[in-house]
Amino acid sequence: MKILHISAECYPIAKVGGLADVVGALPKYQNSSRVTSQVMMPFYNNTFTKTYDFTSVYKGQITLGTTNVSYEIKVQRNNSLGFEVFFVSIPKLLFTEYVYSTNDADRFLAFQIASLDWLLQWKEKPDIVHCHDHHTGLIPFMMTQSYDFKSLRAIPSILTIHNAQYQGWLSYEKLAYIPDFDKIHIGLLDWDHQINQLAAAIKCAWRVTTVSPAYMEELTEKANGLASLLKHEKNKCVGILNGIDTQVWNPETDPLLQKNYVSRIVQSGKKANKNYLCKRFALDSNKPLFIFIGRLVGEKGADLLPEVFDQILQEGKSTVLLLGSGENDIETQLISLKEKYKNTYNSFIGYDEELAHIMYAGADFLMMPSRVEPCGLNQMYALRYGTIPVVRAIGGLKDTIVDIQKGGFGILHQEVLVLDIVQAVTRAEQLYQNQSKFRKIRSSIMAIDHSWNASAKAYINLYKSLN
Ligand code: GLC
Repeated sequence: MKILHISAECYPIAKVGGLADVVGALPKYQNSSRVTSQVMMPFYNNTFTKTYDFTSVYKGQITLGTTNVSYEIKVQRNNSLGFEVFFVSIPKLLFTEYVYSTNDADRFLAFQIASLDWLLQWKEKPDIVHCHDHHTGLIPFMMTQSYDFKSLRAIPSILTIHNAQYQGWLSYEKLAYIPDFDKIHIGLLDWDHQINQLAAAIKCAWRVTTVSPAYMEELTEKANGLASLLKHEKNKCVGILNGIDTQVWNPETDPLLQKNYVSRIVQSGKKANKNYLCKRFALDSNKPLFIFIGRLVGEKGADLLPEVFDQILQEGKSTVLLLGSGENDIETQLISLKEKYKNTYNSFIGYDEELAHIMYAGADFLMMPSRVEPCGLNQMYALRYGTIPVVRAIGGLKDTIVDIQKGGFGILHQEVLVLDIVQAVTRAEQLYQNQSKFRKIRSSIMAIDHSWNASAKAYINLYKSLN
């Protein structure tokens, strides 16, 4: 069976968030189970495309409204990834330094149309087209409705929703860009008088998946306006929990760590990494270290962090280190805390994959006070590195973390309120005081299996049911 994943992000080629981690790992695991899994994505102007050599395998042309747009399909010359990637190159639109930029409507429309145009010509057509998030949301629509793509109609399409907050809204001015179809079906594109690419995909894909079972349930209640649609389409929807790439995320071999470790030597392994972090960020290494890694946006509860940190740090029992970037106002507040708590708080505003690895290894606790968390990968990275998660009971966090009060290994809080988060941190501090329990949990969580094996199989069973 041949699967083609179509996505805007894929680690290590281009990463903004968890979407990249999933699209960079899932094909690898699928390939090892008698399936050929490939990826199709835009050719950006980034380190990856600058570093490697590429061969052109096809040149074509599409129209975007009245404009002719040339595109090229490229592949990496000596594939280094463990799965094949087809890049759609449209220099004027897609060759940008960042994945997302200002005219994303045109950029991703062109990407989607060129992808399908190439599929028409491609001799080894996939048996399944697997789309990820709204940037590829028009693909299931065009495959089933556009006259140009009639010959692709029998290929099943799947949509995976990594995050339903973002839906790829387009004004009706862009209708002219979408390859012609019977206008009687225009309703398939529409949600609330706009073209909504995510809604169109939910309506037209053969199956819809979300990245955890709990998130699937939650989306039928609250989905940034799409809950009633998801409720309506519930029979073709299923939640499949993401996995993590246990080759990339392995404390025993991770080349980015100061010291590698297995669960038997978790204390000394984590200590060496913690010492490095504390030295680099001028933190007191005798206190429990709490970290936050992620986008500084309301969805992740980051707007409450300045106040939460202030309260925790006033107590003086712990240290905090944050890595992330996002809304200016949150960034400013987080930076200004540095002055107030010199030896107990620090933050790195930006994104740094290497630092993230060392933080998972060196921290005692990871905080994720998310308002919405479709799956969340950070809590799984944390577990693998022996770092205890302190998380809000929502979405994938609810599916992966069991509270210590229930005989589990993490700390859950129900609401995203300063008080709830601070109380959860206090419970974590108490756990830290009980060193024998703390150490036991720490080494046991490293053995929890969140590799892709189980989820990759669940997807393959889903594909099989459509063929
Ligand atoms: C998005 C979600 C996150 C999920 C990731 C991968 O980034 O916000 O919860 O883990 O996609 O599916």
